[in-house]
Amino acid sequence: MKILVTGGAGFIGSHTLVELSAAGHETVVIDNLSNSNPKSLERVAELTGKQIPFYQVDIRDREGLNRVLGEHHFDACIHFAGLKAVGESVEKPWEYYENNIGGTLTLLDAMRQHGCKNIIFSSSATVYGDPAIIPITEECPKGHCTNPYGQTKSMLEEIMMDIQKADKEWNIVLLRYFNPIGAHPSGRIGENPNGIPNNLMPYITQVAVGKRPELGVFGNDYPTPDGTGVRDYIHVVDLARGHVAALQAIERKCGIAIYNLGTGQGYSVLQLVQAFEKVNHIKIPYSIKPRRAGDIATCYSNPAKAERELGWKAQYGIEEMCRDSWNWQRNNPEGF
Ligand code: NAD
Ligand code: WQD
Repeated sequence: MKILVTGGAGFIGSHTLVELSAAGHETVVIDNLSNSNPKSLERVAELTGKQIPFYQVDIRDREGLNRVLGEHHFDACIHFAGLKAVGESVEKPWEYYENNIGGTLTLLDAMRQHGCKNIIFSSSATVYGDPAIIPITEECPKGHCTNPYGQTKSMLEEIMMDIQKADKEWNIVLLRYFNPIGAHPSGRIGENPNGIPNNLMPYITQVAVGKRPELGVFGNDYPTPDGTGVRDYIHVVDLARGHVAALQAIERKCGIAIYNLGTGQGYSVLQLVQAFEKVNHIKIPYSIKPRRAGDIATCYSNPAKAERELGWKAQYGIEEMCRDSWNWQRNNPEGF
């Protein structure tokens, strides 16, 4: 298939380009580079042996989208482009709604005008809020999102469902990612956060590489086995392959399809730290800090639906995730 990848220069997008290429698909990337470096695409070319056409276009730029969609005929779009920092979204709600919702509306309109009505959307386990069922199945009711970032994902899901309800030519796959970590095993592409990392694994690797003195563990009084938050970490290469698998749903004209992409295994903050230390033989100093506002105790998936319907199952475990996160950081201490 020929696939438009929005946000393809980013963390999950770049890994997905590698897996799409390995599966024989052709790709074109658009990205405004607001949170990425075009070197990621050079590294993808190095890994795949293929140059991927790249347009520095913003998804809010209708003219730019028309140009790309006019020059190529796409079978589907995989839509990663968006802002994703939870804390920043609380400070800048307008920017998040405008970029994520405004941008996606413009993209969907440009796509339908060019006759491409197949899209795979990067949603998030954040739409479950404080989950009503653990492990979380796709039937679990959506919950209250405590921040504008999460709201954009939840609202975009609703918007896309309404669009598909009104026009059955659309096929829309909503992929709810759990916690993506790790990096390509080559160490050539990986996560490249700006400033102080918000997420746990990039913080751990920056402590390991000596950029930060210690990890703050946000709360040890949650109702979990060791008191620290439990999450479903998933290797980014497995997540990328989940997108390749999701193309099957598009091919069989799924209408709307929703899949959790996780491993089904929960690990606490301290378990992740211990796994990282054991695999990489590096001590990670930490201290216990107060809980972080908006955090929940436990969040992990039941990923059985994706296995049943798409034949997709995560292959990598926590050790590979820790090994590959560190391999990336060690080889690229300043990012790209
Ligand atoms: P990322 O920031 O590395 O990638 C997003 C890319 O989109 C970046 O390259 C950025 O430059 C680009 N972008 C942002 N706004 C744009 C715009 N208006 N026009 C064009 N390009 C734009 O983030 P990621 O971790 O790779 O996440 C990809 C997607 O997956 C995002 O939509 C994110 O919300 C979603 N997601 C991420 C996680 C996670 O923990 N990383 C979890 C669940 C969902
Ligand atoms: C994991 C655990 C923290 C940092 C976020 C978004 C979610 C999704 C993935 C996009 C929690 C603890 C963290 C630190 C810590 N993104 N922690 N010290 O919060 O599960 O999910 O990223 O869709 O929407 O909310 O991930 O990596 O920030 O935190 O103790 O310095 O690590 O409290 O228990 P989270 P995370």
